[in-house]
Amino acid sequence: MKKMLAPSILSADFMNLEPAIRMLKTAGADLIHCDVMDGHFVPNLTFGPPLIRQIRKLTGLPLDVHLMITNAEDTMDQYIDAGADWLSIHAEAVRDPRKALERIRNRKVRAGIVIKPKTSVAAIRELLPFCDYVLVMSVEPGFGGQSYLASADDKIRELAAWKREERLDYLIEVDGGINPENIAAVSERGAEVFVAGSAVFHAQDPAGTIKIMKDLMNAKG
Ligand code: DX5
Ligand code: ZN
Repeated sequence: MKKMLAPSILSADFMNLEPAIRMLKTAGADLIHCDVMDGHFVPNLTFGPPLIRQIRKLTGLPLDVHLMITNAEDTMDQYIDAGADWLSIHAEAVRDPRKALERIRNRKVRAGIVIKPKTSVAAIRELLPFCDYVLVMSVEPGFGGQSYLASADDKIRELAAWKREERLDYLIEVDGGINPENIAAVSERGAEVFVAGSAVFHAQDPAGTIKIMKDLMNAKG
């Protein structure tokens, strides 16, 4: 399977978002990761459906929308209406995670469950048959530019093993602190979709960095 790179626009220059989005396409990004934060579930506030809708108009790349918002089921349809192709929710941020995942899938959008560094795989195991992907947070959600937490390694391995044993087909996505130095090793552990914010957008050459990271994540060590 070809692995996927999902640059996170959280670290992009919001005053120059349009050229950034166009660059992602020409550089070969597979998805665009959009971090929605409400200043409540996480101590930071970003953007909502109107910006997602604007991005949708600019690009054909799939939008991977990561909801870090309380009571996500009350508003998640708005993100789908705005153009999300992938939509992930934190188990702690919804009243009934299984129902929320089913509702996302019913709208023909890929449904993901997110686990924070302190949430175990066991805590969401029974949700896995209802997920198209699992997003393993390798930093505390809320901010870009943090360092990769090694505690994500075992979760990725555990999710990869469980997927084989149970013949499930969720993808394993990892988010936080991914950069050209560690992406090959994280890929070896079984991750298949890689979010990268600051490593891409704070690089001197974002497009070149995307190409380098894609080569590294697909290289078999
Ligand atoms: C953090 C966000 C991440 C963030 C990653 O809460 O979920 O998607 O953009 O940024 P980096 O790659 O800089 O750790
Ligand atoms: Zn994210």
